[in-house]
Amino acid sequence: MTAPPATPTGPTGPADRPGPAEGFDFVAPFDRSGTGSSKWARAGDPGVIPMGLADMDLPGPPAVARALARRARHRAYGYTVCDPSGRTLVADWYRARHGVEVDPDWVLLLPCGPRTALRVLLETVRPQTAPYPPVLFPAPEWGGFAQLCRAARLPYRELPLPVGPDGYQLPDGPFPGPAAAVLLSSPHNPSGRVWPADGLRALAGRAAEAGALLVSDEVHGDLTHPGHVHPVAVTTVDPAHRNGVVTLNSVGKTFNCSGIPSAFALVPDPALRARFGEALAGYGLWEGGLVEQTVQHAALREGGPWLDALLAHLAAARTRLTDRLGPAVRSAPQASYLLWLDAAALGLPPAAARRALLERCGLEASDGGDFGQAGHGSLRLNYALPGSVLDTVLARLERLGRLDAGPAIRP
Ligand SMILES: Cc1ncc(COP(=O)(O)O)c(C=O)c1O
Repeated sequence: MTAPPATPTGPTGPADRPGPAEGFDFVAPFDRSGTGSSKWARAGDPGVIPMGLADMDLPGPPAVARALARRARHRAYGYTVCDPSGRTLVADWYRARHGVEVDPDWVLLLPCGPRTALRVLLETVRPQTAPYPPVLFPAPEWGGFAQLCRAARLPYRELPLPVGPDGYQLPDGPFPGPAAAVLLSSPHNPSGRVWPADGLRALAGRAAEAGALLVSDEVHGDLTHPGHVHPVAVTTVDPAHRNGVVTLNSVGKTFNCSGIPSAFALVPDPALRARFGEALAGYGLWEGGLVEQTVQHAALREGGPWLDALLAHLAAARTRLTDRLGPAVRSAPQASYLLWLDAAALGLPPAAARRALLERCGLEASDGGDFGQAGHGSLRLNYALPGSVLDTVLARLERLGRLDAGPAIRP
């Protein structure tokens, strides 16, 4: 009898290999009906175009589909070990896409989404006993940070983001005192702002002075638009501050497969890495889950061409929308697929803008209030849509009439 291969990959066949001219269609409508999409469920009415939740109405990478199909055909679905080559794949990815050197030893490969990883990281940095220093994060900011602090029983303080000529700047004032952690979405969710490297370095210095871990949540960092360079926090900060910084990323956002929880963290400090790994294991979150390894390996190894095509599509979509909505854009969108808009400048009542946009245009947006107090009066539009659907969005936006709220912010 022949022993099975150590790493079963399942049977292979023609469907497992790329076709002769595998194109990526980001124009035709992508039917998600019957897939249980949260985004579409939130929009409710099938006539509404969902532009709220942050995933893409675009087909994911064929390489991921092939890898999942191939692995699913082998009916060995028992516990799996972590394939250490995944760390090298992450390091290779950063070298190829960002031109930076990441030590594979820094990499934690996580079988959970970024949200869960952040929650466990907060518990890892929480002191043993109260009083707990606060967690700091910008305002406006992805609402998950506030929710996670509440869940981890940590107090938090918001740092208002100053506004410059092209949109938000990093907070530059002194911190209110000692802090447990500074959380930052980088690029910024909701505005798509790519933070400048020097500002990030300064922020890491102030975090170190405050005794805080700087957690740079870079799940949108591989979706940077042409002309902008995303600073990977752990390789951007002064080396003296590196051990006080964690970068978090996920193929879920980059490759539109967030329904399969996975993430990876770059944790240069070996002691913190060990404590974080132990805290994750306490929840049964060991490195090396079956499905997330399959997806992560396929995406990082073979997903580059799909991502390049996606980025070209997103940049074109962004330009079409900013050309139309420029005066209402609060901050130049430089990454991802998010547009952060001033409701009043769109001619919508700031206190009920989401509902008004839904009723007048049949477009569902995220309410600015989901991004903290500073988000009231704003809307976030997700424009990761097929080209043909974007045509419909632009036609529906005509119902808002002329926008005349001052100079337009350009990407
Ligand atoms: C900046 C940021 N961090 C974390 C998350 C959470 O990702 P997940 O829900 O896949 O864990 C999101 C989701 O939109 C996000 O935008």
